[in-house]
Amino acid sequence: MTQDVSAIILAAGLGTRMKSRKAKVLHEAGGMALVEHVLRAASELVPGERVTVVVGHQADAVEERLRPLGCRFAEQKQQNGTGHAVAICKGIAPAEGLLLLLYGDCPLLRKATLNRLVETHRAAPAGTAATLITVELPDPTGYGRIIRGPEGEVAAIVEQKAANSVQAEIREINSGIYCVDAKLLWQYIGEITPNPASGEIYLTDLVEVFAHHGLQTRALVLEDASEILGINNRVELATADRILRERKAKQLMLDGVTILQPETVAIDMAVTIGIDTIVEPFAQIRGNTHIGENCRIGAGSILRDAVLGNQVSVGEYCIVGTSTLEDEVSIGPFSRLRQENHIEAGAHIGNFVELKKTRLGRRSKAMHLAYLGDADIGTGVNIGAGTITCNYDGKLKHRTHIGDGSFVGSNSTLVAPLELEPGCYIAAGSVITKRVKQGELGVGRSRQTNVEGWVARKA
Ligand code: UD1
Ligand code: CA
Repeated sequence: MTQDVSAIILAAGLGTRMKSRKAKVLHEAGGMALVEHVLRAASELVPGERVTVVVGHQADAVEERLRPLGCRFAEQKQQNGTGHAVAICKGIAPAEGLLLLLYGDCPLLRKATLNRLVETHRAAPAGTAATLITVELPDPTGYGRIIRGPEGEVAAIVEQKAANSVQAEIREINSGIYCVDAKLLWQYIGEITPNPASGEIYLTDLVEVFAHHGLQTRALVLEDASEILGINNRVELATADRILRERKAKQLMLDGVTILQPETVAIDMAVTIGIDTIVEPFAQIRGNTHIGENCRIGAGSILRDAVLGNQVSVGEYCIVGTSTLEDEVSIGPFSRLRQENHIEAGAHIGNFVELKKTRLGRRSKAMHLAYLGDADIGTGVNIGAGTITCNYDGKLKHRTHIGDGSFVGSNSTLVAPLELEPGCYIAAGSVITKRVKQGELGVGRSRQTNVEGWVARKA
């Protein structure tokens, strides 16, 4: 962490080109809000309390999302342009040292690049007020164009809309990532005049204001353009999402995770996966999911905010919500674990089994076609095919307790609230409404009668 460096992140705009009711910077790529990517990159370099995020559109929602990361906020009540957004930080952001100015819609930016920018600026000749990152793009449409002066310095930045036909041909563009001398910034930012066409105050015009005072702006030209992608519409959002997921998958593979056909797999940024785990094609691993070592995540499975121990096998096409699966659990194919399940070590869940708010004890099994909701199931229990916990009476939810070592026969209907004591048996096809004590057999069905000669009489 560098003590004399601070950062300002602009995140007040609506993002008209997104055509959305949601503020642009809250849209997600790689399972994380755009602005959160930028804040995380900045926070790796600058301590959180030295990062000021400018909020405006849906300020409450943006602040709520970012507050856990420990930054400061400045409110830009009216979005009068990127220069205005920085100007309102005067008195909030530090008065001296170096300031990184970043846009909240550039999620691909990396710490190493920010570091390089700071180092380049430090090494620049005296009289350099700012250094900014530029790249050469085959198609520069939409970005501000860099106008170079006689000594190769940046003389001006011309926005797409204002560019004449010669300027529009320039392929070197403004990334919107700047390192400036804070003292000079605060001294001169007030001199930017509104753009004649839009009436907005453009941060990019600061280059000319500096030049007017004999101060220079220099450029760090990046070879790799992918990091500076600014997201203005949903096509660019999809591009950023793809690049972030490629990076994530690549990092996991380098860290010892096997990912088959990684281009088909979607893994969110916050996910962690232990070594020797195999992720099969078309799996989606979302949110704050944490997976241990030597697990298998079957093709087409979707995990969201799940926690898996080691040697867990998730078969094909399982859907797992906020649930914990301890070591050596196996589920699927086609299992659905909704919210708040706790599957203890060595338990097995098979196809077409749905669980909700249920604990399944160590080595217990529910292998086929069951609904287990609001249930507390002990260790070594066998749940037969077709078992249903009737947890809802039309008004309230009730719990079912099944003691250790019990055996629930197939197609049993367990009407909650219900207690099955340890070591009891439930006969297949029963409707059970009363407690079954330890060692008892619960039978709740009519007895079978066989009518002799019935078939012949009917014919
Ligand atoms: C901006 C640059 C352009 C550069 C491009 C890089 C200006 C005038 N232009 O254009 O040179 O090539 O980024 O991606 O700076 N914002 C505010 N308050 C405002 C206006 C914007 O906080 O009043 C925020 C937005 O939320 C956004 C960021 O600033 O996160 C950039 O604004 P945007 O409108 O996307 O700028 P571009 O037109 O892309
Ligand atoms: Ca932009």
